[in-house]
Order: sequence, then structure tokens, then C-alpha cells
Amino acid sequence: AEGHAMAKSRFPFKPIGIATDHEVHVPEGYTAKVLIRWGDPLFSEADGYDVAEGGPAAMSDKVFGENTDGMELFSYQGHEIIAVNSEYTNNDVNLPAAQEGVPANADDVLKLQQLQGVTVMEVAPGADGYEVVKDSPFNRRIHHNTPMTIAGPAAGHDLMKTEADPTGTASLGTMNNCGSGRTPWGTYLTCEENFNGYFGSTDADAPRPEGYDRYGIGADGWGYDYHKHDARFDYSKNPNEPHRVGWVVEIDPTDASSTPVKHTGLGRFKHENAACALAPDGRVVVYMGDDERGEFMYKFVSNGTYAPGGSTEGLLDDGTLFAASFNDDGTGEWLPLTPESTGMASLAEVLIFARIGATTVGATTMDRPEWIAVNPHAIEAYCCLTNNSKRGGSAGEVNAPNPRESNNYGQIVRWRPHDDDHASNTFDWDLYVMAGNPDVYPNNPYGGSENVTAGNMFNSPDGMMFDSNGLLWIQTDGDDSNEEDFAGMGNNQMLVGDPMTGEIARFLTGPKGCEVTGLCWSADRRTMFVGIQHPGGSWPDGSGLPRSAIIQVTRDDGALIG
Ligand code: FEO
Ligand code: CA
Ligand code: CA
Ligand code: CA
Repeated sequence: AEGHAMAKSRFPFKPIGIATDHEVHVPEGYTAKVLIRWGDPLFSEADGYDVAEGGPAAMSDKVFGENTDGMELFSYQGHEIIAVNSEYTNNDVNLPAAQEGVPANADDVLKLQQLQGVTVMEVAPGADGYEVVKDSPFNRRIHHNTPMTIAGPAAGHDLMKTEADPTGTASLGTMNNCGSGRTPWGTYLTCEENFNGYFGSTDADAPRPEGYDRYGIGADGWGYDYHKHDARFDYSKNPNEPHRVGWVVEIDPTDASSTPVKHTGLGRFKHENAACALAPDGRVVVYMGDDERGEFMYKFVSNGTYAPGGSTEGLLDDGTLFAASFNDDGTGEWLPLTPESTGMASLAEVLIFARIGATTVGATTMDRPEWIAVNPHAIEAYCCLTNNSKRGGSAGEVNAPNPRESNNYGQIVRWRPHDDDHASNTFDWDLYVMAGNPDVYPNNPYGGSENVTAGNMFNSPDGMMFDSNGLLWIQTDGDDSNEEDFAGMGNNQMLVGDPMTGEIARFLTGPKGCEVTGLCWSADRRTMFVGIQHPGGSWPDGSGLPRSAIIQVTRDDGALIG
């Protein structure tokens, strides 16, 4: 049977085994090397930036950001431009060791703020693979203080107004940029995930407005300590500032002077990524996950239609936001979130508190929706449900697409919209894979679905991207202890799945401690760019602190790689 499966495989490589070391591994006949690490200069003026000491705050927006995540490559007038997220900082890496990762002053906070966000950079083939084009006019850092426009139904609402912006239409910064997306018209979408962690209060007794609980905003924050040195992040002084993050932001990668736009039509939650599709009639559909235990999957359908070269005005704001409901019989529906369906006073409030609206309409609680990917060769989409270690209560109950009580491993749900139309309100669904450990749990749901074997097992699928051949690349962000429930899984990894056969094979293993996240291809598809986030050890330099980096993978024979 194995020989038969091998003969049919569309994978042109010999799958690799697990790794537990501090290196990157790819199959025989492929080579991986670093493209850029956090702290590497995007501009000559930042040459010599000292990563060991963290470098000066004044230069932290001239270098490649920390903790690389979602990315997309854009071809524009003969240039190749990568837009890529820097999700968060590792304060113990990014601030001098003497401070043990605790910001001491406004300068430290500024450094952290500028090492996160988004990098736009030109890349080009060099003598030995791709290189970043230093000082390219496309190069740009967008961070926690970059001016943004707020667009869509929530723009200008009272809940969006602050003392510094009484119009509620102009905010500063995009933060916790996790996954990505690209619009049909060639712009980049960056998705604000765990934004709540940046806010806190210098007055522990300050009132906590509506929605703070559901979005996890508390007085202490997550250790960035911005609120102690930058009043914008102190909710005792600026209680509406948290409403201005948790959105999807559109960036024009071809114009370094353009102002990014926060599209409130896409709803406010802990956004993983934004996967765009077009309905047959040209309406724009954006699928989105909200990565928290017991939260939901969403989609937006525009009112207007897209035509190449036509106006894109309102296509990410004027429309309807839906949350997904999965039935036990393999069908499901998208439930519209409107003032009528949620009982909320206005569409602006529905969007600002999308989570609360989705609970009201009875959407299905999910095991942490991470990336969604739309198949370019079939009318279907996939979402990684990464894991759920705290079943019950607000973390969601067992239900059909989240069938295991204790879900250490995660699963990937797939849906096919009815009428072959991504704008349809109904769909059929199944599970493409249930990750598991067939060695530890033979003949048991925790052993995973049939396409999981001792040779390809993994846990916690997270990043996901289709290539041009319709193969599904899956990246993991899970437990890499290689012990007990996770024995035989090794370091986090990237696998490739064939949606037609269910076959899954391991292509890459990351250095211990990392997650693998972010994937795009060069214009000629002969180079694959892969993100390595929060590595351990001293990867990739071999000494000193570890450095998050983008690597490039090529075939030694120069053939296509996606
Ligand atoms: Fe930033 Fe849900 O991963
Ligand atoms: Ca992720
Ligand atoms: Ca992560
Ligand atoms: Ca994750």
C-alpha cells in the first residue's frame, strides 16, 4: 500500500525525519540559508546595529524587526518586494541583559515599539541567493507609532475617539502583527492579534470599559510596560485607545510614503490572518480566524465588486461580517453580524465588539483558529485549529469540528461553500487532518486521523499557505519537547499536504525552540522564503543570542519549488 501511495505522490522530495537540534533541515537536494535576521540593516545608516546590546532606539526602525511572522511577496515593475510582520519582541533578547527584559524608560519602550510591526523590503537575486536591497526606495518600517487611517463603519464612532484624535479616524501604529493576507489588487494585509498585551493602567482601580474582559485588557499588561512610559497605552488616561487596535490593516507595498488603512469593516478581534477570495460575481470575501480558545471563525463579504484595474474603494469596509456555525451533520452556515442580529445599537459597535456579537448569534466556539488558506484550484478553504488545552467554560465545549476533550494536537477544518461561491451563506465541512500521536495513542482519537503516521506526525498546526500547484504547506507552533504526548514529533516543522489525497509529508524542521511561521515565494517560484520565529540556542549565528530570521530554500537543481 505504501508503494502505491508513493507512486501517486505529487511531492518531489524524500520526506525528512524529525530533528531535536538547533539547525534547520530540508530534504536531500534542497538548501536552506538565511536571508535576513532581526537587527540586520534595511538602510546603510543602521550598519553596525549592535544586536547584543540591542542597539540604540533611534536606529530600531531602520533594521529588520524581531519575531518574523506572516509575509507576502509582491512583484512590481520588475522589483520583488516582501512585506513581513514582526509579531512581538522577546524583551530578554531585545533589551540589554542587565535589565532582564524590563523596559526602564521611554527610550526602551520606543525601541520595543519600533522593532515590531511590519517590514517592507526589496529583495533581489545576488551572487549566492536572494539578498535584501539595502536603501531601496521600497524599504520601510511600519511600527507601533506609524500614522494610520481608520476607515469603515467604526471610523469616527465615539468609542474610537481619543484626546489626541478627537475625530476617531487617525490612529498610531499597528501591533502584534501575526498572520498576513494579500488583496486581489496587490496590497498587503497585516493582522493585529494579541494587542491587549500592550495596554495596562497606572491606576489599578481605573474603570475597565465594556469589552475589556472579553478582549483580555487588564491593568498589568503582558510585560511590555508601555503604559508606565507612554500614556497612550495607559487606559486610565486613554480608555478608548484599545478600541483602535485589533483590526486588519492594508498596506501598499509599492509606495513607502502611503498611509496604512485600518479596515473596521473586517471586525475587531485577535486576528490571525486574512485570506481573500473572489465570489463569482466579483464580491470580495475575506476569511479570518480569531486565535483564542473558544473564539470564532469569521468572513467578510463586500457589497461592491472587484474588477481588475477598477476602484477598490470600500471593498474591505462596506459589506457584511459573518461568524461561522458548524452543524454536526457536516453542513454549516455563516451568521451575519448586524445591529438586528446582535441587538447592538450600531454597526460600529457590532464591529468593535465582534466577539460579543458572534456569541450572541450563536457561532461555534473553536479550538484557536489560526491561519486560513484558500485553495487556488478548488472552491474550498482550510483553517488551522491549533490546540485547546483548557476545554470548558469560555474555552469552548466539545463540538463536531473540535471533537477531542483534551486537544494537545490540533486539527485542520476544511469547508466547501455551496454553489461553488465563497459568498454563499452555507457550506459543507470536514476535517482535513486531525493531528495526533499514533505511537503513544494507537487506535484512539488522540492518535490522529488516518493521514497521520509515525513518519509525519506533528502538533499545533498554525501557519498555512497554498502554493501555485494547489499543495498546502503547513507550519507548526507547538510543543517541541519530543517527550510523552509529543514523543516522536521533534522540533516545530513545515509539512506539505495534498488536498486531493490527504497525503502529508515533512519538508523542513526548525531549530529547537522556534515556531515556523510565514511563507512566500520569489516571483520565479524557484526560491521559497520561510520564517523562523523565536528560535532557541544561538541560531543562526552559532554563538550569542538567538535571532529570528527569514530563510530561503532552493532546489539544488534550480527547479521550481512551489
Ligand atoms: Fe500569532 Fe495565533 O499566532
Ligand atoms: Ca500564528
Ligand atoms: Ca506563536
Ligand atoms: Ca500559534
